[in-house]
Amino acid sequence: MALLDTKDVSINFGGLWAVKDVDFSIGTDEIVGLIGPNGSGKTTFLNIISGLYRATNGAVTLRGEDITSLRPFEIFQRGIARTYQSSRLCWDLSVADNILMGLYTKHKVGFADIIFRPKKADNEIYEFLQECMDMLSYFNPSLFKLRYDLTKNIPHIDRRRIEICRALVGHPTVLLLDEPTAGLNDEETMQMMMDIHKIKRKIKDICIIIIEHDMKVMERVPERIVVFNAGRKIAEGIYGDIVKDHDVINAYLGGAAV
Ligand SMILES: Nc1ncnc2c1ncn2[C@@H]1O[C@H](COP(=O)(O)OP(=O)(O)O)[C@@H](O)[C@H]1O
Ligand SMILES: [Mg+2]
Repeated sequence: MALLDTKDVSINFGGLWAVKDVDFSIGTDEIVGLIGPNGSGKTTFLNIISGLYRATNGAVTLRGEDITSLRPFEIFQRGIARTYQSSRLCWDLSVADNILMGLYTKHKVGFADIIFRPKKADNEIYEFLQECMDMLSYFNPSLFKLRYDLTKNIPHIDRRRIEICRALVGHPTVLLLDEPTAGLNDEETMQMMMDIHKIKRKIKDICIIIIEHDMKVMERVPERIVVFNAGRKIAEGIYGDIVKDHDVINAYLGGAAV
């Protein structure tokens, strides 16, 4: 059984089908790339999986459980975490605080504990902080030194890493990456590709869906590629086949890739 499945997933915005009848599945330990022209529905598809948008039709299942109507935090609690195409970090908070947010649904201590059992609350925060710092050092030991700096003062690639750390601290089983190399130069893009491979080494069995325009990344990172055009899935396969597919060339790659 696939870990995550979508069946006939569609969403309509005022008459426009932004995503239409998409069947998709991903198994444990897999990396799948998602490509397609701007406006083809890639981000919207991730928004449906992560619960930000409710599908008009169709179903999303995680380990056989229908999660189509769950709210984003419920989906996150079940192990689907994500990053965003444009940064969703709080720039006036420290690096550590931004990553700590990724654990907000994991809190066991409540309001009463904070008043009557402050030690218990302290221990939990300490544990969480430790977890965040381990994750940060794993991606970039020098970023660890900047853990109490304001996020707005951190270089762009490291802000991308902070977002990935925030998604990973809760130990998800599915990670959704929306254009993680957007705004990075070639050298940084290479580093980000290595980081994505590091995720696989750090979190056993995690599966990753990655939206990406850079075909170098698509060649080297995912095992399989899914292509969207005008809200529909038009092709699916390994990189070598996708770049030769006529529908994909017409819709997205143009003459350059062949
Ligand atoms: N909340 C929304 N309201 C109306 N239209 C939307 C909304 N979100 C996305 N769309 C539309 O859905 C289409 C797909 O957008 P998107 O998923 O962001 O494309 P991609 O990520 O492939 O570039 C676009 O036409 C976009 O304008
Ligand atoms: Mg997008």
